[in-house]
Amino acid sequence: MQFPPGFLDQIRARLTPSQVLGRHLRLQSKPGGEHLALCPFHNDSKPSLTISDRKGFYHCFACGAHGDIITFLTQYKGLSFTDAVTQLAQEAGLPLPSPDPQFTRREQKRRTLFDVTEAATAWFEQQLHSAVGRPALAYLERRGLPETIRKQFRLGYAPDQRQGLKQYLLKEGFTLQQMEDVGLIITPDNGESYDRFRGRVMFPILDMRGRIVAFGGRILGDGEPKYLNSPETELFHKGRQLYGLHAARDQAYREKTLIVVEGYMDALALYRAGFPYAVAPLGTAVTEDQLQIMWQIVPEPILCFDGDTAGQRAMMRAAERAIPLLEPGRSLRFLTLPSGKDPDDVLQEYGPSYFRELLNQPLPLGETLFETTLRQMHPKTPEQRAAFEQTLMGFAEMIRHATVRQHYQRFFRDRLWQWQRQIQGKNTSTTLRNPKILDTSRRTISPRDRVEHRLMALVLEHPSLLVQPEIEDTFMQLELQHPTIRALHDRLLMLISSNTLPGSTDSILNKIRESDGSSEISHLEREGFLSLSCTPGSEKANWEYLIACYEHMRMEEEYQEVVARESASNAEQVFAMKQELDRCARKLAVTKDALEMILEG
Ligand code: UTP
Ligand code: MN
Repeated sequence: MQFPPGFLDQIRARLTPSQVLGRHLRLQSKPGGEHLALCPFHNDSKPSLTISDRKGFYHCFACGAHGDIITFLTQYKGLSFTDAVTQLAQEAGLPLPSPDPQFTRREQKRRTLFDVTEAATAWFEQQLHSAVGRPALAYLERRGLPETIRKQFRLGYAPDQRQGLKQYLLKEGFTLQQMEDVGLIITPDNGESYDRFRGRVMFPILDMRGRIVAFGGRILGDGEPKYLNSPETELFHKGRQLYGLHAARDQAYREKTLIVVEGYMDALALYRAGFPYAVAPLGTAVTEDQLQIMWQIVPEPILCFDGDTAGQRAMMRAAERAIPLLEPGRSLRFLTLPSGKDPDDVLQEYGPSYFRELLNQPLPLGETLFETTLRQMHPKTPEQRAAFEQTLMGFAEMIRHATVRQHYQRFFRDRLWQWQRQIQGKNTSTTLRNPKILDTSRRTISPRDRVEHRLMALVLEHPSLLVQPEIEDTFMQLELQHPTIRALHDRLLMLISSNTLPGSTDSILNKIRESDGSSEISHLEREGFLSLSCTPGSEKANWEYLIACYEHMRMEEEYQEVVARESASNAEQVFAMKQELDRCARKLAVTKDALEMILEG
């Protein structure tokens, strides 16, 4: 919507910043008609936001947030410019001006195009629920998308016919030109036009206001292309849309969490699993426009990528696109999934609670740049380290905002220094440790997971343990619950059973990295487990202690389960288990004593 010149000034003249901001923030009056408030755009501890009615704007001395009443609503409430102006005009009692005629004509044309996409969506929905759509319905069920989600996202089915939708839309009074304009039919140079989408599950793509601008269609089962999308049209510019945004927007804004995933299915799977704030770009790398849209809603969207090499490359591309645009309080965070898994797979295989745990500890942008570059460059010699430093500083250089740029330069310098110290301390380039991250993750990892992590780290740091047959046996029989540790365990089992397990930590780590397991290693590193090395000579006692912990925990879990399930009905079994549990506890106490004796003496 375009507003005539002068209209915005009229609004600004009728509403003061203190009136508008005062509705959302607690204001404190200052002499001279100014006000102070805690700045909502950064984590403010003392009021840094000055609001000047005389000058008509607000300014934060700490984070640099700045603007008038219109910008405030767009930034604070995530409204679009037009919505902010409309709302303020209402508050100010100003009637909205009648739009200029040319604009109206364009708008009318768009409106009829929206009518076409709307009618098509309704038809696709109807097909999904008719006989011809039965396989599609079964497919969606199989993928775990229930009726509620199908309805909410208006999923449908385009039958495998060339004239189905076209005939329907003609009957509804739409012209071939209109169908062509929204990309629903294909018109060959000389021949009859036909439906673009055939034999596909249909995902309507909604704009921010809930209007249907395009479609994505997935083939049932295998076939090429897997997804077919609408072409660019007057309604649809794929670089400016995010799938799922309309549904996600309010929740994302309220919870300050926006998850960005790669696929339609991933966004829906997250929604379904209780994360109703996921969006997906439309089959391309994240664009600048898409980043700006996300930042209107949350300060630090979380980009979620597969841990494999392609996923990591996509992650770097997104990071590099965001770097120049960083502003105070505005960044990205990253979440790496187990290699070869998308969020949909992770939810199906490991459940929502595992995803929630990942979501609790996304990596900040700066840390991501540091770690990913380190992994890519593997600097060993002084020259390589210099190149590493230069690459990092090059990233910082790209940041347009001066203050943010300086902070990044400082961050990379500190981080490099910290890294150098670690490698001097450990005399190896493979071990990374960031104390801050270690601390946060320590809090969120469950005791059982922690024991599994420590067992894995111990074996990786002391592979000689596995030479002892009884340890090897026990190790091979471990039943692990943490997906990453389980994946590492699988890799080690493969190496052991093919007799190709290297003798040194570095060679094992490199071997795993080479076979696409670098994200699993970096998971261990990130959690800090690879550097909790035990006192030389105590590794066997450490092993026994950890195994006793592991057995005790498993027994305890089993016991609790049986108690909950059987209670009185099977007293004998409960009793036997209790005895077993006590036995584990005694063993744990003994091994703990033994370990402490070794460590002390
Ligand atoms: P994926 O192949 O990872 O899709 O492509 P997915 O969502 O996991 O699909 P499922 O689980 O196999 O159904 C990610 C995204 O890339 C775009 C789509 O937007 C898809 O959601 N894409 C993919 C295409 O546009 N065309 C294609 O042929 C494949
Ligand atoms: Mn998938």
